[in-house]
Amino acid sequence: MTDARPTVAVVGATGAVGRTMVEILGERSFPASGLRLMASHRSAGSVVDTAWGPIEVEDLAQADPAGIDIALFSAGGDRSRRYAPAFADAGATVIDNSSAFRMDPDVPLVVAGVNDAAIADAPRGIVANPNCTTMALLMATGPLHELAGLRRLVASSYQAVSGSGQAGIEVLSQEVAMLSADREALVRGGWKDPGNALYQRPIGFNVVPLAGSITDAGYTDEEWKLVNETRKILGAPDVAVEPTCVRVPTMAGHGIAATMWFDRPVSRAEAIEVLEGSPGVEIWDDDRVPTPLDSAGRDDVLVGRVRGTLGEPGGISLWVVGDNLRKGAALNAVQLAELLLR
Ligand code: A2P
Repeated sequence: MTDARPTVAVVGATGAVGRTMVEILGERSFPASGLRLMASHRSAGSVVDTAWGPIEVEDLAQADPAGIDIALFSAGGDRSRRYAPAFADAGATVIDNSSAFRMDPDVPLVVAGVNDAAIADAPRGIVANPNCTTMALLMATGPLHELAGLRRLVASSYQAVSGSGQAGIEVLSQEVAMLSADREALVRGGWKDPGNALYQRPIGFNVVPLAGSITDAGYTDEEWKLVNETRKILGAPDVAVEPTCVRVPTMAGHGIAATMWFDRPVSRAEAIEVLEGSPGVEIWDDDRVPTPLDSAGRDDVLVGRVRGTLGEPGGISLWVVGDNLRKGAALNAVQLAELLLR
């Protein structure tokens, strides 16, 4: 008798998101008959403890995709572009965490719990996992769009360094250690630039109001993702999105301060009622302020500071924060794999 349970692969299994994917597959007792792990030749041969026992990491460049049913990719856009189509051709459904295929009209872009039905239409055998900031934002915005039709959205992100992978975590740790050696210089000036290669300016004890790199019209690629992915996920190509993406010195948890207006006025009470009824969203009231530290390690996104707009009444301002490695990446990918099994 053949085993009907799927064989799952995690590509980029040694990275910040990939390791979280492996953990979450185990935590949720994903019904896989087997798990394969892939990364670069640097990690090939290393062994990872998983819920399926110790598994040796394979070199992606040498790996044979035959027999894989579901492949979760988080090894960067270049690897996705190069290998994901071959995995799909070999029979796998690829769930890709990179931005490589997100805007491809033949690739659904799905936030589990917001636009689940879209996953059914994946003619290339590839499903895209949205950008981590868009994901957290849409967990709050999606249900409100459903309620009243989103028309306009102003969003400023506060993005953690783990969004840049393991390298971001290293850079922040090193800079905090180096810069805190001279606290006086941090207060009065004269600090020495540690000179990281990842961000435009130091990130330790600092805020960098430019996450990603500038592309069109003075906006960064991260900001364009917020615009384009929001429209695609909501199926609302005319929604006006005004994004500013900021990198902040937190390890995990992307926060977004957002103000939105709809086809009709929405009251604070109405917004809270809808969000309280939305799976995967936890409302924290005003004396319990949800912060990135609170979000780390949690599956739910946290929403707080829900207010009616002042200048142009009828809109809603709120703060949403979510673990960028979990709902923002690995958890959503695993939830999409669960949707595929249904
Ligand atoms: P490796 O650890 O062997 O370099 P992060 O985003 O946290 O930096 O993780 C990136 C993931 O992508 C890691 O698992 C990394 O593997 C993997 N990766 C990076 N470059 C390649 C490559 N050329 N081929 C396969 N996997 C890669």
